[in-house]
Amino acid sequence: MDSTTLLPPVKEAIEQFPHHFHEDAASYASPLGAAWAPGRVNLIGEHTDYNGGYVLPLAVDRVSAFAGRTRNDQTVRLWSTHFNAYAQFSLAGLPESFEEQREKIPGWARYVLGVATELIKANITLKGFDAVITGDVPLGGGMSSSAALEVASAQAYALFSNHSFSIGEDNATLTPLETAGLCQKAEQNASGLMSGILDQAASCLGQPRKAILLDCRSLEYRYLPFEDPGVSVVVIDTGVRRELASSAYNERRKQCEEATQRIRTLILENEPDNTEARSIKALRDITPEQFEQYKGQLPQILQQRAGYIIAENERVLQVVKLLEAGKIEEAGKILWLGHAGLRDEYEVSCKELDVLVDIARDVPGVLGARMMGGGFGGCTINLVRNEAVDALSQAVERHYQERTGRQASIDICRAAAGPSYVLFEN
Ligand code: GLA
Repeated sequence: MDSTTLLPPVKEAIEQFPHHFHEDAASYASPLGAAWAPGRVNLIGEHTDYNGGYVLPLAVDRVSAFAGRTRNDQTVRLWSTHFNAYAQFSLAGLPESFEEQREKIPGWARYVLGVATELIKANITLKGFDAVITGDVPLGGGMSSSAALEVASAQAYALFSNHSFSIGEDNATLTPLETAGLCQKAEQNASGLMSGILDQAASCLGQPRKAILLDCRSLEYRYLPFEDPGVSVVVIDTGVRRELASSAYNERRKQCEEATQRIRTLILENEPDNTEARSIKALRDITPEQFEQYKGQLPQILQQRAGYIIAENERVLQVVKLLEAGKIEEAGKILWLGHAGLRDEYEVSCKELDVLVDIARDVPGVLGARMMGGGFGGCTINLVRNEAVDALSQAVERHYQERTGRQASIDICRAAAGPSYVLFEN
């Protein structure tokens, strides 16, 4: 591969490798190689993944990248350009040694350790390697930098284990969604966030000019053209990072499970002949009509949580229909509704996210905006007519700091491919 066509973070990782790992090529068991995977945005379908529902993400043109060489032993040594720090762990003794090793390494390296642990649990043999990690997915900024890191790790293990296993469609050891599932477990074990499969699936399944409609229950997916040349996907980062977000996330998950159980019980009590109700496992299985009928018997908080999820799942299907009909303007309108639900019913927004969405609402040519990802910080996603991007950017500059005391940053993203790698000759 011509190195001039490589993505900037991949190039950077390759350039940085000799600066951080000094041994000459002869002491390694492979030539220099690089592996990478993208972050994601989600058009609609927030918090629906762990409720067995639909999501509609795209992988984006921002990646986490590894460049390195295979070692002759079972050690993994990493240098993160972002944190300016080394980390090291051993593949020997995994999965048993996972928890003990996790406590000894920095947070970012835990994801890489977590992925090794899941691969080894899946009976895959790995080799040690040295690598530099770079990336241009904003860390903690709502574009799933951690999923990009996990999926890039999986791709790096495949590469540096001399392809003892492979990731991909046809005849690969792991399909993209199997890889996503392993990376999701790695995320949960590394961070304690009981995340769904949205982020890792989007990273693994990415394709240029395509959105991915994923059914998080059956794991069936299909691609939707997403290439209106007149509309940009604009991501605006609030600059807010909240440590407590993961406990609130896990709490939402529990509330959804509780709401499911209660509604199921209510249906079974009131409709003894409804045999289908016995198979209700998640909010995904409850229809809007059933919810309307029984919601009055739920505690207020569960009513709100379940109401949001059931409506959001419907919103995904509406957006899909509209995009398929080429009605992006109408699709955009649904994003505003998604935000209102996340703010008022699911209560995972925050002042800064609300301010960004309010600012966007006043800019003509913004078709829709909403907070994206887990919430409590991170970013908003905005569908914006190209000619309105500058106006949006100016409006954010003018009003965001004044209203929040913070600085926002703006990115334009394109739908991009999933994980990949390159191996050089020497
Ligand atoms: C985080 C999680 C995902 C998903 C989103 C909310 O990004 O990692 O699994 O639940 O929040 O949609």
